Amino acid sequence: MSDNKRILVTAALPYANGPLHLGHLAGAYLTPDFYTRYKRLKGDDIVFICGSDEHGVPITIAAEKEGVKPQDIVDRFHEMNKNVFEEFGISFDYYGRTSSKTHHETAQEFFTNLNNKGYFKKKTEKQLYDSKADMFLPDRYVKGTCPNCSYTEAYGDQCEKCGTSLSPTELIDPVSALSGEKPELKETEHWYMPLGDTQEKLEKWLDTRKNWKPNVMGQVKSWLNDGLADRAATRDLSWGVPVPLENAKGKVLYVWFDAPIGYISATKEWAEQKGTPEAWKDYWQDENSELYHFIGKDNIVFHCIMFPTILMEHGGYVMPENVPANEFLNLEGKKLSTSRGWAVWLHEYLEDFSPDLLRYALGTTLPESKDSDFSWKDFQARVNNELAAVLGNFVFRALSFTQKFANGEVPKLVDPQQIDLDALKSIETQKEKVTQAIETFKFKEAISEMMNLARAGNKYFTETEPWKTRNSDPQACANSLHVSLQICAALSVLMEPILPDSMKKLRNQLSYSGKVSWDSISDSMLEVGNSIDPGEVLFTKVEDEEIETQIAKLEERAAANDPTSKFTPLKENIGFEDFMKLDIRAGEILEAEKIEKSDKLLKLKVDIGIEIRTIVSGIAKHVDMDKIVGQKVSVVANLAPKKLMGVESAGMILMAEDTEGNLKFVDTEAESGSTIT
Ligand code: 2FM
Ligand code: ZN
Repeated sequence: MSDNKRILVTAALPYANGPLHLGHLAGAYLTPDFYTRYKRLKGDDIVFICGSDEHGVPITIAAEKEGVKPQDIVDRFHEMNKNVFEEFGISFDYYGRTSSKTHHETAQEFFTNLNNKGYFKKKTEKQLYDSKADMFLPDRYVKGTCPNCSYTEAYGDQCEKCGTSLSPTELIDPVSALSGEKPELKETEHWYMPLGDTQEKLEKWLDTRKNWKPNVMGQVKSWLNDGLADRAATRDLSWGVPVPLENAKGKVLYVWFDAPIGYISATKEWAEQKGTPEAWKDYWQDENSELYHFIGKDNIVFHCIMFPTILMEHGGYVMPENVPANEFLNLEGKKLSTSRGWAVWLHEYLEDFSPDLLRYALGTTLPESKDSDFSWKDFQARVNNELAAVLGNFVFRALSFTQKFANGEVPKLVDPQQIDLDALKSIETQKEKVTQAIETFKFKEAISEMMNLARAGNKYFTETEPWKTRNSDPQACANSLHVSLQICAALSVLMEPILPDSMKKLRNQLSYSGKVSWDSISDSMLEVGNSIDPGEVLFTKVEDEEIETQIAKLEERAAANDPTSKFTPLKENIGFEDFMKLDIRAGEILEAEKIEKSDKLLKLKVDIGIEIRTIVSGIAKHVDMDKIVGQKVSVVANLAPKKLMGVESAGMILMAEDTEGNLKFVDTEAESGSTIT
């Protein structure tokens, strides 16, 4: 046990507003899983917590885009993301969600506690307001030009290009993400965290933090050097944890105030589920517990400055021991972007490959201290040249040789030579190197040292040539197999944190029934006579065509999402029967008039041959109303009638729309009433 400490590991709560991709896995979930699995093998008392971040503007924007409720969005993606994590073997002890009752209560208790202490500064300030949508525009509800790097697509809370944290009013030429309109300024009252007032106290605490990664401490220091500004802990939104005060109607907690508290709520729910409701306190309120936050670099300020300040001001909670944040993962040399379709979705990956392959390939490419790149070719090389050619090959050689020439049993080691002893010794040496690397959060190095044991095994097998000694010196052959099998057994536990499925398979092939623990990794894990069954190979090679398919998929998706493309992407194919359900007719506009209170809608009388229809059409901004009488048009004539602004519309005029949203009539020379097919 590491000083008998209890350990709580958290992984950033992903927003439940979309599926997870490679960047998520590499940024915040693989490393805590490696770490937790290793610590569990060491026998430490460790709890691994995560869950869905279900509040904040990313959720409401996703809901608006789809025209559904925020609750529908979070329900869908919470389930989906929870399942994908499970399939990838991310071994959370509990996966919570911030819409839970426990979370709302916990977050509100924190707010009330700080408020009662007089911590917050109440300020009335002018904020951006969309009068059309009748709402304030916090965070990502505004876009504009970054004052720091001039990137034109910066959000109201952050510029994704230069990483600067922003407030909406800092944006140059802001526009509402809801209506595209220029927002106005309107007064509103909010509760601010005066981070500057507590900066000194925070700095004192940060000075006591040891072994933080330079990329993390560097970013923190740069924030501190700039001096911490007040940060609003509340927002004018209808979705979120309501501010627990009488005079705060229509206000919710800022998502970054409530989300990290989600770690606490989820631990409470974990304890509840276990039947020991008070057990969460052992991890959060006992100084004998260590707290580790695993996150991506965009979350550093919140986990190293804001949340620690909240914990400190509240009191009675343990402070983070370390925040081993990763940098970003790029994809095929370009920045990952979900909106531009430049991403590999985890659920799609699983349709083609097994989880362990990606756990390994990403593990060797982690953006630990600087941004790194994932490419499909590198994935193929990692699988083929390392997993298959080194680890898989070594295991297969040792096991199949034992099956064929040693009755499928672990042979005795008798009078070992130096080469045998050295090979056995490499187990301990590599175990120590791996331990050292994981303890200091150097996971890439740990994986490389694990693979080095397989390399040493392979080299040993080749050098001792059991296929020759089988006839010339049967005991030397037996020794080679004994040693090789012991290395396989050691690998099956040593690599368990990275390759849980494959190493379990390997232990079955070795009929290893001993303890699966870090202590058990030794040069004598297998007993003489233990039966060995090679079974299926652990890793098969990934073919060139498989990789080409993945690259093509990525490029096709990116082309379809390219904002600079002149045309909108094609929709999915439909059956001929579906098309035939439409009754499209040639027609002619006979009358046009404006609909009161609407600047978009026109009320049209259209002759469709068979009869004259009233059709309401959203074309007012695109046509000259006085010139469209006599215009020949195409009309969807069997669309169910619908009331728009009090007028029943019986049909739809077909319009051609370009990517800028300009509309033009689909003209026809056909006689009114002709069917268009
Ligand atoms: O960046 C994100 O995806 C956030 N949802 C992370 C939250 S981490 C924690 F504070 F909950
Ligand atoms: Zn910028």
